[in-house]
Amino acid sequence: MTANPPPPPPANVPRHIAIIMDGNGRWARQHNLARIEGHREGAENVLRILEIVRQYHIEYLTLYAFSVENWQRPKAEVEALMQLLAQFLLQHAHKLNENNTRLRTIGNINVLPAHARDPLKEVIHATANNNATTLVLALNYGARAEVINAVRSCIHEVQAGRLDAQTLDWPTFARHLDTSEIPDPDLIIRTSGETRLSNFLLLQSAYAEMYFSPVLWPDFDDTHLAQAIHAYANRERRFGKTAEQLRKHKTTPPPAP
Ligand code: FPP
Repeated sequence: MTANPPPPPPANVPRHIAIIMDGNGRWARQHNLARIEGHREGAENVLRILEIVRQYHIEYLTLYAFSVENWQRPKAEVEALMQLLAQFLLQHAHKLNENNTRLRTIGNINVLPAHARDPLKEVIHATANNNATTLVLALNYGARAEVINAVRSCIHEVQAGRLDAQTLDWPTFARHLDTSEIPDPDLIIRTSGETRLSNFLLLQSAYAEMYFSPVLWPDFDDTHLAQAIHAYANRERRFGKTAEQLRKHKTTPPPAP
């Protein structure tokens, strides 16, 4: 980190960064390697980026590791991704604990193969009381599925008489999303030059700043992350207000509808 500019003032550092880690396949092709080698390098990069996030005192890092759509990839690639996840957890669980990092997931992990799901549940349990950084892995995650599940859950609460449909508001609905108790992302980064959200945190991104980097995920390093954080720090987040209003009052998220 020594070559990078000093971090922006803490008030301008995002509390929650979410990353669409794209470009592993293209990285592998550039290096004449099989796609899985790109994913392997991508998994190594998760650890490097997590370390930088920790150094910046960023509280939440969410990584789009496996989408509901990724099941459509060749069977061997899906298996290799699950294997990489299991390896990552077995090799680095102690480091998460050493660094006071808590692991959480969003998406339905119950349908993951047992060799990935079991260590996942173990590490979630073993790190549950850590409170410096939260690493959120989006696994078998898709925003549309998440919304449908939340709607179902609300309907269930209404039918059980515990929720009044007429007074349903955003904070109540948000508690039914996978991200309940996780603040909305302030900054969403997508690597590899693609400029889409691809079913990632569609509701939670309502006021997020977007940062698209041309760099492929395995090459996205501390300097690139520092650039993204500095770009974020220089943006004006107005949350629907005017620039004049912001100058008078400090920026706050919009009131719940
Ligand atoms: C997108 O690149 C990447 C993925 C679908 C998987 C991301 C997984 C990892 C980084 C490794 C496992 C994660 C953990 C947490 C251990 P792509 O394959 O779509 O790349 P391409 O667009 O260049 O083909």
